[in-house]
Amino acid sequence: MYEIRKEGVETKPLSLYYVNMEDFPIDDQTFTLYRTLIDKVSGIHFSSGNRVVFESKLKEILRNRKMLPMEYYRCLLSDPEEVKLFLDALTTNLTSFFRNRSNWESLQHEIIPDLMKSVGKSREIRIWSAGCSTGEEAYTLAMVFDRTLLPGYTYKIIACDISLKSLHTAAEGWYPFEKAEKDVPSGFLEEYFDREEKGYRVKPQIKEHIVFNYHNLMNPMHSGYFDLIVCRNVLIYFDKESFFKVIRQFYNDSLPHSYLILGHSETLFNLNTGFHLKKGRYGCYYVKEGI
Ligand SMILES: C[S@@+](CC[C@H](N)C(=O)[O-])C[C@H]1O[C@@H](n2cnc3c(N)ncnc32)[C@H](O)[C@@H]1O
Repeated sequence: MYEIRKEGVETKPLSLYYVNMEDFPIDDQTFTLYRTLIDKVSGIHFSSGNRVVFESKLKEILRNRKMLPMEYYRCLLSDPEEVKLFLDALTTNLTSFFRNRSNWESLQHEIIPDLMKSVGKSREIRIWSAGCSTGEEAYTLAMVFDRTLLPGYTYKIIACDISLKSLHTAAEGWYPFEKAEKDVPSGFLEEYFDREEKGYRVKPQIKEHIVFNYHNLMNPMHSGYFDLIVCRNVLIYFDKESFFKVIRQFYNDSLPHSYLILGHSETLFNLNTGFHLKKGRYGCYYVKEGI
């Protein structure tokens, strides 16, 4: 247990004192240590510009744990489970149903019709929602596939994140009225959700197509498996090296005819990745070389 030592004052374990974190500023060296660790384990990069955001999140954790910055840092080095909780607290999980409408138009009118041709009816179309947060993206994918696929075609979605809290909400599939009514078009709401006392629950017919998993994008997934990877508003938080690493893995994890959809602020422009930009009628997305 960490101890505060003051000359002439009896020493007590830290937890016995009231600890005001403002008395323990996170100095440059400590910030660099944390930043390097976070980068390494998750790809998420905290620039000096968002140091204030990082510090306020870290201080809250330290307050709850009653630990000092370096004490907690050492704890992270020795405890992978604590690293998971730490990352959960640091991630930005903002999301919504049908976020970035043009993606869904492209999916419905261009990508799904093409996947029906290339994959056929002999197996499920395999989709990966990478960085799915609280599930809205994966459920939107499922609704659009359900609406668009012709009889005889099927699909499966693997949805992953490193935020355990978000994955819990995702797997629950329950959303308050305001959230669902604001973002889900009424026809979809009626067809794919059950109305409950305080919100809407995704119907089992949609849920059964999705598996929610804890998976860190810094680790390999499923070589040569996916027909479509959707990773939006995730890599924007990554450093350049991790960004490339993940894109290389996406290339490896996808099949030759596959598609990749990134967020509106994420681009592979001028990068040699093996994916090329397709300017569709509704917006842009990527196709693996060879299409
Ligand atoms: C801003 S949300 C985007 C959610 C959704 N894709 C969308 O566009 O609405 C970013 C998500 O990426 C997740 N994330 C960040 N780093 C990750 C990593 N290394 N592996 C898996 N998920 C990660 C975060 O936990 C967060 O839920």
